[in-house]
Amino acid sequence: MKILGIVGSPRKGSSTDLLVDMVLKGAVSKGAEVEKINIGDLNIAFCTGCMECRQTGVCRITKEDSDDDLAMIIEKITETEGLVLASPVYMRYVPGQFKNLFDRLVSQIIITPGKNLTEIKCRIPGKRNSVVIATCGNPDIKMASETLEFLKTTSNMCGNGGTVVSELAAGGLMLPGQINTDKRTLLDLASNLNLPEPAVDNMMKQYKSIKEQAYQGGQKLALLI
Ligand SMILES: Cc1cc2nc3c(=O)[nH]c(=O)nc-3n(C[C@H](O)[C@H](O)[C@H](O)COP(=O)(O)O)c2cc1C
Repeated sequence: MKILGIVGSPRKGSSTDLLVDMVLKGAVSKGAEVEKINIGDLNIAFCTGCMECRQTGVCRITKEDSDDDLAMIIEKITETEGLVLASPVYMRYVPGQFKNLFDRLVSQIIITPGKNLTEIKCRIPGKRNSVVIATCGNPDIKMASETLEFLKTTSNMCGNGGTVVSELAAGGLMLPGQINTDKRTLLDLASNLNLPEPAVDNMMKQYKSIKEQAYQGGQKLALLI
């Protein structure tokens, strides 16, 4: 069984990336084979809206640009039985680079007029369950709701109606890799933000809990395959 993690943060050493690592670790502990892709490492041209793919199922850019990575991503999704989609919140939504990947993946979606969202099918065969993760700077994770909704809808489409087995959101994240950072760094951050010292203990507790949930989400995903 193979699980693919797609990290939507363009930032190196990001908390989103670290949380995907935790999910994949959990999956490996239950026997899964895993792979991770970071959006910042991909070359995905913008969708030009030509709509040619609606008739052919193949994106025109894929045919014309051999350096474009969409075909490689489709191949990787084809090989997997589970997906982990994770993204930071940018202006209440996913980063443009990540959104663009899914705009291009519309070439794989079979849209039948009159059918509702849950009936939308993907040309990439097979059902895939998923774990979705959103991270945001606002301590209130309600800020991540549109991002989570996007991740759930897209994983559902790419997974031909598979189940989202775990949905996680982490808030209050600003520094790179903050979810794994030490107490000293968090105390400095709290002091810059005029937060009281006990807030740091609270942050550390929350980070521990979300990482545990990510690990368990990965285990669940692997066991359901
Ligand atoms: C361009 C940009 C836009 C952002 N917009 C929001 C936002 O609308 N709401 C929010 O809570 N955080 C926002 N943030 C903060 C990120 O969501 C937050 O730092 C996130 O944890 C970064 O994750 P990463 O380190 O995994 O990339 C934004 C950050 C950037 C760079």
